[in-house]
Amino acid sequence: MSDKRNMHRPAQRKKQVSRKELVLFTRIKAVFCMFLFAVAVVVCVKVVQGLTQSNAIATTPQNAGAVDDNAAQQADVPADPPKQTQAPESTPDDSVKETEQTKKNGKDVTEKGYTIETIDGITYVDGVVIANKSYPLPKDYDPGFSEEAQAAFDKLSADAYNDGIYLFICSGYRSYEMQDELYNSYVADWGKKKADTFSARPGYSEHQTGFAMDINDASDSFIGTPEAEWLEKHCTDYGFIIRYKKDKESITGYKYEPWHIRYLGVKLAKKVEKSGLCLEEYFGIDSHYAEDDKKTKD
Ligand code: DAL
Ligand code: ZN
Repeated sequence: MSDKRNMHRPAQRKKQVSRKELVLFTRIKAVFCMFLFAVAVVVCVKVVQGLTQSNAIATTPQNAGAVDDNAAQQADVPADPPKQTQAPESTPDDSVKETEQTKKNGKDVTEKGYTIETIDGITYVDGVVIANKSYPLPKDYDPGFSEEAQAAFDKLSADAYNDGIYLFICSGYRSYEMQDELYNSYVADWGKKKADTFSARPGYSEHQTGFAMDINDASDSFIGTPEAEWLEKHCTDYGFIIRYKKDKESITGYKYEPWHIRYLGVKLAKKVEKSGLCLEEYFGIDSHYAEDDKKTKD
């Protein structure tokens, strides 16, 4: 009997514990399921909210660009091109764009984007001193003839001589006073209108810069001579350009002068020559007397 009791005791104890465990386990399971359900509900709500928000951003026109830009940065590709090209046109602040076109790093620039600055009354475009009908020099600007231009011409004339071509400077540097005298003598002989086609008014002559010179007889009889042809063909090799070219009269403001050369240095002279443009076109500047423009308007 005792053996029988003993035999059953462990089995009875095991059965009681299992029932408790089962109840406990069932309760835990119920709680866990409820927790899972709650988490699922929260996740679903968040997902629905997220979708609704992103749809709202993407369909707002003001934000469309920003969304695309971010996407573009992540994908390392440019933003949607149509949006980029449309944006500046529809931007109301076009004045900012215009200012940017005439200013670079806070400096004024020409139509071609070269910096243009006036220092002590002297105009420099991309560092090059300019004298034409739009940009005069101060009366007291008196630099004398450029030694660099003189040295370049000496080399040019020596090489020309070796080719059997004789070239010499008939007029190099001219001060304001010298130009005044010369111009007024032409006005006396030809009248102001005609004189303005071939002679600069005082203060407006490139000869006053010290970088311009007239070669040989500086007249129409020079046109078409072997000397003129040699000069035109080789002058850029020495840093000069023919300043007043044929067919550019309306731009330079002067008739064709194959004898008037301007020193720019070899690099720039070659660039200008290669462009097929006169200096005004190359730099994107004008050459008109303000006084004449005023009269035309009146
Ligand atoms: N002959 C040129 C235009 C001058 O007088 O400077
Ligand atoms: Zn000249």
